[in-house]
Amino acid sequence: MKKNKKVSIVMGSQSDYKTMKFAENILKKIGVSFETKIISAHRTPDRMYQFAKNAEKNGTGVIIAGAGGSAHLPGMIAAITSLPVLGVPIESKKLKGLDSLLSIAQMPKGIPVGTLAIGEDGAINAALLSASILANDNSKIRNKLKSWRKSQTNKVKKKPK
Ligand code: RP5
Repeated sequence: MKKNKKVSIVMGSQSDYKTMKFAENILKKIGVSFETKIISAHRTPDRMYQFAKNAEKNGTGVIIAGAGGSAHLPGMIAAITSLPVLGVPIESKKLKGLDSLLSIAQMPKGIPVGTLAIGEDGAINAALLSASILANDNSKIRNKLKSWRKSQTNKVKKKPK
């Protein structure tokens, strides 16, 4: 992987952004460059195909895909590109995101999607994991990640108030 790759954050709908913005916030803090797009596997299939087909040559190193409900976006993107794809299950209204989680996690063998937790926690961890992946070839990101963790540790009080 070449240096200075970006993370592409994609999501199935505008309604997913309130969750996926947590991923953006983390990447900003760690200093990882990213782009954010709405891409729906079923509503904009051509946009999805063009994005996934060209992601590698467009300088993307990791794709974070958030989707809710039947949540096929991460798996479909992973089928088109060999870049690592991290799936964030969006909390759905009816089934609270269990549908999204199972749909993203239960990819049949051959096309992996790294699946994170439902909702905000998943979006945050997807961003941290994408930074870890890019850090394999970027010591600046590795150092930023180390200081981010250090500061997280320092925020934990020894005693409850
Ligand atoms: C999925 O359907 C999206 O990822 C979203 O989580 C869910 C609902 O979409 P909207 O009806 O809010 O556009 O494609």
